[in-house]
Amino acid sequence: MKKIKFLILAIIALIAFNSYSQETSNFYATMSLQDARELKKDLPNEVEILAEKRNEAAVYLTPLAGHKLHDRVLVHGPGYIFKSSLEEAIAALDKPKRTPQNRLAFSITEDALVNQTLGLINTQNIEDQILELEAYGTRYHNRPSATQAANDLKAKWEAMANTYGRTDVSVRLYNHVNTQMPSVIMTIEGAETPDEFVIVGGHLDSTSNQGNNDAPGADDDASGIATITEATRALFEVGFVPKKTIEVMAYAAEEIGLVGSAEIAQNYNNNNVNVVAVVQFDMTNYNGSANDVSFITDYTNATLNGFLMQLLDHYNASGPHQITYGTSLCNYGCSDHASWTGEGYMASFPFEANFGQHNSNIHSPNDTYSLTGTSTHATKFAKLCAEFLIETAKSDGALAVDETLIDTVFVTVNDSNLEYDLKASNESFTNIEIYDVLGKKVLDSPISTTKGSLSLHSLKSGVYVATFVTEAKSVISKKILLK
Ligand code: BES
Ligand code: ZN
Repeated sequence: MKKIKFLILAIIALIAFNSYSQETSNFYATMSLQDARELKKDLPNEVEILAEKRNEAAVYLTPLAGHKLHDRVLVHGPGYIFKSSLEEAIAALDKPKRTPQNRLAFSITEDALVNQTLGLINTQNIEDQILELEAYGTRYHNRPSATQAANDLKAKWEAMANTYGRTDVSVRLYNHVNTQMPSVIMTIEGAETPDEFVIVGGHLDSTSNQGNNDAPGADDDASGIATITEATRALFEVGFVPKKTIEVMAYAAEEIGLVGSAEIAQNYNNNNVNVVAVVQFDMTNYNGSANDVSFITDYTNATLNGFLMQLLDHYNASGPHQITYGTSLCNYGCSDHASWTGEGYMASFPFEANFGQHNSNIHSPNDTYSLTGTSTHATKFAKLCAEFLIETAKSDGALAVDETLIDTVFVTVNDSNLEYDLKASNESFTNIEIYDVLGKKVLDSPISTTKGSLSLHSLKSGVYVATFVTEAKSVISKKILLK
């Protein structure tokens, strides 16, 4: 009897092990050097550190090591970025990054249109879509239902564009090398500068730590897909025609190492696609902290984070659309924004709570809609998404500030005074604004002469962004260092 029991157990274990090892085999990745070393200490046989550079390591991981990393994520997790070969992993360490754009400029001018749009964001639509995605049972990247979800989302987005008679919208599947699941990309072609891109995204796949057949992924990340879909629908309803091209992306295979977004971002960079800004929506429907939105400040761009905060200050300070915010850290490249940051693009990640106070049921069969029971939290993110799209894609205005104009604005810092000379620009400027690295405005002063100085004595030493605002509300930004 005992023997039979043992045999049955052994067979079950064998089946479990087999389907597990089929799930994924050993793979290459890059990750933080410190995390790699810690993992190696815990699991010496599951990790090989192949190369080290600065604070990053190229590694070879077993599926068990990958799983361990995933499990840790709920506490405070090291993640990894999947690489398809040894060469790619090594090359990723050496890769020269794009020069980050720091002559960046954003402005807030579309009050009427934005306020109208905010009133149209529909909480019920968000709920419906989360439930719809949850109903696939699993969207784990290598399951047929994940590819089905991508096909269905393409059809849904096409139908949505058709409903509003949008002939400037197209939807495509983006096929990948390292996963069988495609990403879905909706493109709204820019009416004036179609080669400038503004991107919002979320990931369509899901995962579960109890085998990947029961992975509802309601918050992680059906909520993000529902958020960007509803924001876009509201833009269609108000008839917004962007001057820049907008792309709305549902990434494949984020959960196995940012696979879908990494391939897309790399492809865009290789083809020199001018992506002006990217915002990621991954987990938007669990209200776990005092503030509504937590801006993740690592692996994101401080200037873009600051602009999103300005949007909330401007449109959501009080009233029926009130949204509060703070900042938090992931401590690693925890979602698809990191793929864009890695390619040198400006990316932000407004998150549902402070890290650690987020939904603790993600990556399990319990990540269901019933846990939140409402979509009010995600609705706030859809509002932020719509504000961002309207104000960033509206025109080539501020962002396309003439390169020569930028070079006619001279600034230096001397003895904690910002000295500026704007004469050569032939522009009239109204204000100087100073932002800290988190994007918080710390000084705002009117400009009355084209040459002058501004005392920065009230500020701590550090890096700041000095922004000069023109009468036409264009802005020119320069990074400054205060000693
Ligand atoms: N939505 C999570 C990221 C997340 C989890 C952010 C908790 C903040 C708090 C995402 O889908 C995810 O699980 N990412 C992976 C990392 C990736 C590189 C495999 C993770 O965190 O393990
Ligand atoms: Zn996620």
